[in-house]
Amino acid sequence: MRLDRLEKLNRQIADHGIDCLALVPGANLFYLTGLSFHLGDRPTVALVRPGRPLALVLPALEAPKVDGLPDVQPYLWTDQEGYLPAFERACAELRLVGARIGVEAFTMRVVEAGLLEQCAPECRILPADGLVSALRMRKDPDELQSMRRAADLAQRALSATLEQFRPGMTERELDATLRTSILMTGAEDVSFDPIVSGGPNSANPHARPTDRPVGSGDYLLFDWGVRVDGYFSDITRTFPVGEMEPEMRRIYELVKEANADGREAVRPGVTCGAVDAAARSVIESAGYGDCFTHRTGHGLGLQVHEPPFIVAGNEMVLEPGMTFTIEPGIYLAGRGGVRIEDDVVVTESGAETLTTLRREWAPIG
Ligand code: CO
Ligand code: CO
Repeated sequence: MRLDRLEKLNRQIADHGIDCLALVPGANLFYLTGLSFHLGDRPTVALVRPGRPLALVLPALEAPKVDGLPDVQPYLWTDQEGYLPAFERACAELRLVGARIGVEAFTMRVVEAGLLEQCAPECRILPADGLVSALRMRKDPDELQSMRRAADLAQRALSATLEQFRPGMTERELDATLRTSILMTGAEDVSFDPIVSGGPNSANPHARPTDRPVGSGDYLLFDWGVRVDGYFSDITRTFPVGEMEPEMRRIYELVKEANADGREAVRPGVTCGAVDAAARSVIESAGYGDCFTHRTGHGLGLQVHEPPFIVAGNEMVLEPGMTFTIEPGIYLAGRGGVRIEDDVVVTESGAETLTTLRREWAPIG
């Protein structure tokens, strides 16, 4: 249990105009309690009501995880009994009839929201995604240590993968090599299904690996990361294979410059939108603005995508401890694409880049 974090949250719940915050398994619940559960077919909900212990409705088979935890009131249900009685007991004891209940609108499902409405008649369900994510945005030194290690292990995994690269390997074979390398570093898991795309497929920012062999004239793009202590890294590097057309070389240098200028713009007091503009203007002024089809970056931590979002129009002001990606790209349909993605943390005076893999043009194969 992170009682310091729960205390902060309790103060914010009152300020937010809600009576109670309902959380489902995921990053927010992990941040507050250190507990991980499945968001599966056995409904599990934590109810944070200021002035009371955290109420946790959970399947009885998960009881060992909460045994002896301070400030947790478990409401266990068994597969035989079903979950409705436990939700009824929790909602009655927390007096949630007619309460304003904040929920994670992007995560909570109809099943959990329906149980709350059924067991707390006349309650109002309100989106409150920002409550815990605001607390999570500024990372403490321990969290940053985990993120540094996540960056370090991801980089080692890529180096091991590149050592095994031979022209003619398929995207799927390279994907398998990368995944194996990630697990062999001792990381907990991959951050997400890696993107390993070659040639024309690299022009698709969210490509899936195919059986196409990667050969001369192709870009080979890796977008991958690992999880350490629950924290993610998210990196992209793009490698030319053999001989490349001059324009393909040119877009590489532009993306590299946009990445550098984006990272250079990061410091306390600057808006997220200004960081996006710093990276984007390099690509726009070279005439490739239409080929940079996504935001410059996203917050990174216990989730791969979390606030702050580095996107045009976002007036959120950067503060020390915030962690996010800088990942400009240029995608030429039918030919190939380049993306260079780094993970940064805002410091007191500027920024530190957690990812250190070289970004220079580096032909392979
Ligand atoms: Co990525
Ligand atoms: Co990313």
